[in-house]
Amino acid sequence: MGFTGVRMGAVWGAIFVVLGTISVSRAQLSLTFYDQTCPNVTAIVSSVIESAFQTDIRIGASLIRLHFHDCFVQGCDASLLLNDSATIVSEQSSRSSNNSIRGLDVVNNIKTALESACPNTVSCADILAIAANVSVVLAGGPEWPVPLGRRDSLTANLRLANKVLPLSFFTLAKLKKNFAFQGLDTTDLVALSGAHTFGRAQCRFFDNRLYGNPDKNLNTTYLAKLRQLCPQSEVGANTNLTDLDLTTPNIFDNKYYSNLQQNNGLLNSDQVLFSTFDPDTMAIVNKFSANQTAFFEAFSDSIIKMGNINPLTGSQGEIRKQCNLVNGASSSSGLIMGGGVESQADDLVSSI
Ligand code: HEM
Ligand SMILES: *[C@@H]1O[C@H](CO)[C@@H](O)[C@H](O)[C@H]1NC(C)=O
Ligand SMILES: *[C@@H]1O[C@H](CO)[C@@H](O)[C@H](O)[C@H]1NC(C)=O
Ligand SMILES: *[C@@H]1O[C@H](CO)[C@@H](O)[C@H](O)[C@H]1NC(C)=O
Ligand SMILES: *[C@@H]1O[C@H](CO)[C@@H](O)[C@H](O)[C@H]1NC(C)=O
Ligand SMILES: *[C@@H]1O[C@H](CO)[C@@H](O)[C@H](O)[C@H]1NC(C)=O
Ligand SMILES: *[C@@H]1O[C@H](CO)[C@@H](O)[C@H](O)[C@H]1NC(C)=O
Ligand SMILES: *[C@@H]1O[C@H](CO)[C@@H](O)[C@H](O)[C@H]1NC(C)=O
Repeated sequence: MGFTGVRMGAVWGAIFVVLGTISVSRAQLSLTFYDQTCPNVTAIVSSVIESAFQTDIRIGASLIRLHFHDCFVQGCDASLLLNDSATIVSEQSSRSSNNSIRGLDVVNNIKTALESACPNTVSCADILAIAANVSVVLAGGPEWPVPLGRRDSLTANLRLANKVLPLSFFTLAKLKKNFAFQGLDTTDLVALSGAHTFGRAQCRFFDNRLYGNPDKNLNTTYLAKLRQLCPQSEVGANTNLTDLDLTTPNIFDNKYYSNLQQNNGLLNSDQVLFSTFDPDTMAIVNKFSANQTAFFEAFSDSIIKMGNINPLTGSQGEIRKQCNLVNGASSSSGLIMGGGVESQADDLVSSI
């Protein structure tokens, strides 16, 4: 048994060497990670988010998006949260995040509350994972067990962020490829896109669908409404906001999927899940639209999977004192990652 274990370990080791840093890491996160060192962590995170929610109903949506943009770029290591500095080129100005991500101040408030209750203990990467769970529950969605124990990176990677974060005009084929790069499959893509059941988007991310040859997969009633909000003169630069889910804008439910069935997906990347005549994604959309429980279960599975992408654990990285800054001024080599990741990601940029 022990012998077999060792041999299997060797086999897995070899596989991981081959796959490099793309796939979900072997490192173990744990459901009980802070039970001894910060037992009240979830209540503290919740209380800061609930207080922000009183004046900003969108905050939960903004927070879960931070977890997504963090995890896709060199793993869930809070690299997204690092500000520009002498040694850091922030990911916050990537094409997907620039003038778009929100909630960084709330994350800092959570960190301040946690540093007061349990200093030097809870990582910023774990704050984002817990905040995602809390935010979804607050909006009426499922809760899931949140594996914890991530540590924070010493580096950020803007160039990688520009290669690996998906964009709203992507085709379905490109979205699938983009998720596969993270070890996420087609079900994960469709389930996680369901996060667009709440939150807002700026015209500049979808108004290319409205003019010239308007997207034929856009409901004509919706098209007329969106044209009013997003005039042709501003296409590509308009920051006007609208609901990602026109049916129940602030509730985490399965209406996102029935919207797609009616050609009421806001972003191209939403509507293509249903309108590309891909039997796989179409079937999943239909299933989630018909059965909210099935959506909630799949969403929970997929977000746990997303949260497991390449975490730093053990003595890797650090527990930042402030989420926007690495602790030491003299950061040297920083995160150890296979230098291949960035060039492997080139493949995502060049193909459709
Ligand atoms: C499938 C590829 C995806 C694309 C192309 C995409 C793109 C976008 C875009 C363009 C916006 C609007 C941003 C703005 O106007 O400033 C947005 C918002 C949002 N995204 Fe995604 N997204 C994707 C997947 C995801 C995933 C996997 C999650 C989380 C699990 C997520 C959660 C959200 C949320 C909650 C918002 C609203 C944020 C807010 O109101 O502040 N998205 N997304
Ligand atoms: C846990 O945190 C919450 C929110 O800050 C607070 O109300 C509660 O008193 C704390 N409980 C303990 C045991 O510290
Ligand atoms: C990081 O930058 C934001 C503005 O983008 C600023 O509000 C925040 O104070 C900065 N954090 C630190 C620790 O300097
Ligand atoms: C980010 O947005 C700011 C303000 O709109 C703009 O000046 C800057 O050029 C943008 N950065 C990138 C990399 O697009
Ligand atoms: C997830 O959220 C639920 C509801 O707020 C909470 O009961 C649970 O403890 C949370 N788990 C974690 C680890 O945040
Ligand atoms: C923003 O939307 C409003 C309608 O809500 C519209 O009247 C206005 O022209 C739009 N502004 C821009 C810059 O597109
Ligand atoms: C357009 O959307 C409305 C609801 O907003 C729906 O009743 C109608 O069936 C949709 N049309 C198409 C062609 O899907
Ligand atoms: C809905 O999905 C759940 C979870 O997969 C399943 O247990 C249940 O049987 C489904 N309900 C229907 C009516 O199909």
